Amino acid sequence: MNETRTGTSADLKANVSPLTSYYERHIFFCLNDRKPEEDCCARHAAQQGFDRCKSQVKAAGMDGAGKVRVNKAGCLDRCDAGPVAVVYPDAVWYTYVDNHDIDEIVESHLKNGKVVERLLVPGALGRERASS
Ligand code: FES
Repeated sequence: MNETRTGTSADLKANVSPLTSYYERHIFFCLNDRKPEEDCCARHAAQQGFDRCKSQVKAAGMDGAGKVRVNKAGCLDRCDAGPVAVVYPDAVWYTYVDNHDIDEIVESHLKNGKVVERLLVPGALGRERASS
């Protein structure tokens, strides 16, 4: 049985189990934009973070099947920590401020599998909702 992954779509279909993750890592950036009176990730430079991550992953040749995918997302319901991004399959949640933070997530986690502890979202931080 041939276990080798090759670069073509046909080879990937033939050699990869449907239970195998198509991407090694998948990072989702919340880009949600709310009404002016409500806070949201879009108001905390989320688009810039997404753009930086996408360009850094591509420049490093890490994008594509079997590697890394960078995706936009709507609200991930962890707004109080915004801006946020989450990496799967590791289920690691990050917040970030600038390009330096994004570059560290790309180099450390997406490239080398090492979690960036200083950028982790505290476990219980979600979204404060008005009580009824
Ligand atoms: S607005 Fe980004 S997590 Fe809700």
